[in-house]
Amino acid sequence: MKGIVLISGGGSNLQSIIENSSYIGLKIDCVISNNPDAYGLERAKIKGIKTHVIDNNKFLSRNEFEVKLIEVIEKYNPEIIIFAGFMRILTSNFTNKYLGKMINIHPSLLPKFQGLNTHERALKANEKKHGVSIHFVTAELDGGPIIAQKAIDILPSDNPNSLAKRVLIEEHKIYPIVLLWFAQGRLKLDNNVALLDNKPI
Ligand code: GRF
Repeated sequence: MKGIVLISGGGSNLQSIIENSSYIGLKIDCVISNNPDAYGLERAKIKGIKTHVIDNNKFLSRNEFEVKLIEVIEKYNPEIIIFAGFMRILTSNFTNKYLGKMINIHPSLLPKFQGLNTHERALKANEKKHGVSIHFVTAELDGGPIIAQKAIDILPSDNPNSLAKRVLIEEHKIYPIVLLWFAQGRLKLDNNVALLDNKPI
C-alpha cells in the first residue's frame, strides 16, 4: 500500500507507523506538515522519507491552503492518507475528494471530547476512563465512523501530561493494527459506515 502521512507536531505516531511499515505492508511516499517546525519532519528525513511543508500561515484562505495540499497529494496518488496529529480543519471539498482513504487518530474515546485538550477535559469531567479512537475522516471534525478504540483507566494521580503519555503508548500500538487492516483490504467506508470484513464495526 502506498500512503502519505499528514502531521503537525512531534510525530511520535508517525515514528510508530514508520517502524511498523513492513508489518503493515506500507510504503510512506511522503510526509506533509502544515507546521515548518514539526519535529516529525526530522523523523521522516532520518528515515529517508520525502517531506513537504505547506505552511497554512502563508495562505490567505483555507481554500488556497487546501488547493496546495491537494496539488502535493496528487503527485503521489496515495491509496491512504494517514492523519497523525494533523491539526488543521479541512473543508468538505477536501474530505469528499478523498473519502474512504483518510484515517485519523484522536486522543479520546469518541464521541466524547472531539477537538482539542482532550486529556484536560476528560480529567475535568471526572471521567473514569479515557483513551484513543481511530476513525475514518469525514467532513465532520473528529466525527467520522469509528474503526477502533482502546480505553485506559484514569488514575487519581493523573494530570493532563501523565494521561497524554499513557494514551500515546496505546496510540502507537493501535494505529499500526488498523493500518494493517486497511492495507489488507479488510477495512472500508461504506455509506458512512465503517466495515471490517464486510461487517459494520
Ligand atoms: C496524538 O495524541 C494524536 O492522537 C493527536 O495528536 C497527537 C499527535 O502526537 N491527533 P504525535 O505528533 O503523533 O506525537
